Amino acid sequence: MGKKLVPVAKKSDIPEGKIKEYKMEGKTIAVVNTDGEYLAFDGLCTHAQCALAGGMLDGHTVTCYCHGGQFDIKTGEVLALPPQSPINVYNVKIKGEYLFVEI
Ligand code: FES
Repeated sequence: MGKKLVPVAKKSDIPEGKIKEYKMEGKTIAVVNTDGEYLAFDGLCTHAQCALAGGMLDGHTVTCYCHGGQFDIKTGEVLALPPQSPINVYNVKIKGEYLFVEI
């Protein structure tokens, strides 16, 4: 099945440094505005499914608030345990004021 572009939010809905959570296509997706770019990734931690939107963002690193696991939100890779598996990351496209996620 091919990927599709799903409209998610307006740029102004996600202030710099914030993580927002959206449900789309049966998935929970987190979208951030960090270092001047918008990034999207799985909204649930691969350790015990805590919401990453509740975590802390520092540049391209998100820290899960449950047990301190960390992911690189550009590549999805685990930076700090306990999560064992990476998260999926998604392309974000900008059209005018609107953000779309490719899923
Ligand atoms: S649920 Fe995220 S580190 Fe445990």
